[in-house]
Amino acid sequence: MIDYSQQQSEKLVRRVISGLPETRTHDALPPWQDYPLGGTQVEEERLIRQATDYEPRARLLLDRIGVQPGSNVADIGCGPLGILHLLSERVGPLGRVVGLEREPRFAARARAEIARRGLTNVSIVDGDALATPLKKQSFDLVHERLVMINVSARETLLAEMLSLLRPGGTVVLEEVDNVSWLCQPAHPSWDAILHAFHAVFQADGGDPFVGRRLPELLRAAGVQDIQVAMSVDLALPGEYPRKHLVSLLDSVRDRVSSMGLLKDEEATAHREALVAHLSDPATTVIDKLRVQAWGRKSK
Ligand SMILES: C[S@@+](CC[C@H](N)C(=O)[O-])C[C@H]1O[C@@H](n2cnc3c(N)ncnc32)[C@H](O)[C@@H]1O
Repeated sequence: MIDYSQQQSEKLVRRVISGLPETRTHDALPPWQDYPLGGTQVEEERLIRQATDYEPRARLLLDRIGVQPGSNVADIGCGPLGILHLLSERVGPLGRVVGLEREPRFAARARAEIARRGLTNVSIVDGDALATPLKKQSFDLVHERLVMINVSARETLLAEMLSLLRPGGTVVLEEVDNVSWLCQPAHPSWDAILHAFHAVFQADGGDPFVGRRLPELLRAAGVQDIQVAMSVDLALPGEYPRKHLVSLLDSVRDRVSSMGLLKDEEATAHREALVAHLSDPATTVIDKLRVQAWGRKSK
């Protein structure tokens, strides 16, 4: 029996590295399609919960980067919240935060969130991250989180982000890599749902293993002073990441069925069995590898 109370503050792995070796060449990717997880109410709520869960880590990242008061910053693909509120705090009343989002439902929720929180230095712009309507070379920092994992045109996304930065500005990527994601004891419903989720995600151009590629993508784009932080956490009972796979299944349930990956009754049975397995405190869940990578646009 694992004593989770003692492990509450322990991190399974936490390391900070820079200049990772390149591990994979870039395969030809299918053309960009829609956001694989969809623009539904279910996904909107999932993204709000996830933004809350990721907040401590995002704060640490912004501490390390050192965002200056008065800066102009952008959160690309901000979803219904992203890190808009954290950037707003950092840049202060003389700074400006722009959230760029393509999905109308998420952009509307982001506007509601910034109004509710009274964040007068934040605005939301509707647009495609691959060809934004934002002014080129006008930002001190451009950030994205979990957008690159969803789009097949990864180099285009990074090039667009860099084009928005002034020379010497900071580009920041936050992604995951599913390499570490598992439960112990293993469970057939975990395997079935993870396999179905990956199949939907990859069919739509997503790369669930993109995290490992961030250093090489930045390097290939000519970014300087690249730094990388990686960490893996346990997903403890009661924490949001514990049942993240179940939430993802809910977000792609229609596609799982329409792609013939699982019949509806199979998906329901696997979901129930997995919820029970994850509710057992004796089950260990190791979360996805989280990767943060950043650097400077050359002058
Ligand atoms: C997993 S969510 C992450 C949201 C937010 N960055 C966060 O970390 O909470 C991915 C977001 O990227 C947006 N997105 C995906 N492709 C996009 C594109 N081509 N242009 C603009 N937004 C895009 C989606 O609509 C969604 O809001």
